[in-house]
Amino acid sequence: MLRVHELTKRFGQAVALNSVSFGIEPGTIHGLIGPNGSGKTTFFNVTTGFLAPTAGRVMFKDMDITGMPSHKIARLGIARTFQNTSNYANLSVRENLVTAARNRIETSWLANILGLRSARTEEEMHRKSADAILERFGMREFASSLACDLPGGTQKILGVAIAFSTAPRLLMLDEPLAGLNSGEKVRLMEIIRGLRDDGMTLLLIEHDMKAIMQACDRITVLCYGDLLAEGTPAEVSRNPATIQAYLGEEAA
Ligand SMILES: Nc1ncnc2c1ncn2[C@@H]1O[C@H](COP(=O)(O)OP(=O)(O)O)[C@@H](O)[C@H]1O
Ligand SMILES: [Mg+2]
Repeated sequence: MLRVHELTKRFGQAVALNSVSFGIEPGTIHGLIGPNGSGKTTFFNVTTGFLAPTAGRVMFKDMDITGMPSHKIARLGIARTFQNTSNYANLSVRENLVTAARNRIETSWLANILGLRSARTEEEMHRKSADAILERFGMREFASSLACDLPGGTQKILGVAIAFSTAPRLLMLDEPLAGLNSGEKVRLMEIIRGLRDDGMTLLLIEHDMKAIMQACDRITVLCYGDLLAEGTPAEVSRNPATIQAYLGEEAA
């Protein structure tokens, strides 16, 4: 689905990504973990066109998207969330989802996932899909609330729902569980696993090790720009380099 080859990003002298190569298989949840400052968010920025890489290549479904502008990459089917929430603060939750749906290029497979029946107009389809997404993300009671009035955790869940509304093939989430209470975390992880089970591909940056280990099919560990380890949760969690650099820090 996504493959990077010797991807490097430097900021002046600092190397945020140092010749990183790995791939994300379709229909999987792929975890991206590592200590703060390891280049995880930079990886998102470079693969989604918000920053140009210094060197290396980014491939999406056999297309070379290296250095493409972010709006073009989004239209090819990659959606992302940011560490901080982003939504239209003065629109209601439902209006946020309808607006995101209007930016969709191709709707048929999402309509399938959501079980939408055909609509007379595009606008009716967007409203139906907004309602189905409200349901799926457990946000029906907030449909008419302004996004800015939502509790913090619900705002973050809305961010994921908005990204999903654009019907991406690859959904990239940057610390979606940060700021959520334990009930919200369980709910969002269930939603994320449900998306994977429906065939979506997800790349997940997250510090919550329990959630990562339970949900991910594969995990890549970055450590200050270097790819430290790659494998299944079991492989990564018994990898000595990972334990020393990262998991040990958690356990300590
Ligand atoms: N726009 C930027 N300009 C300069 N340095 C940056 C920029 N973005 C990230 N960095 C640096 O790159 C390194 C990796 O940062 P980041 O990708 O945010 O790490 P992570 O998300 O893993 O915590 C850090 O040293 C950070 O200071
Ligand atoms: Mg980050």
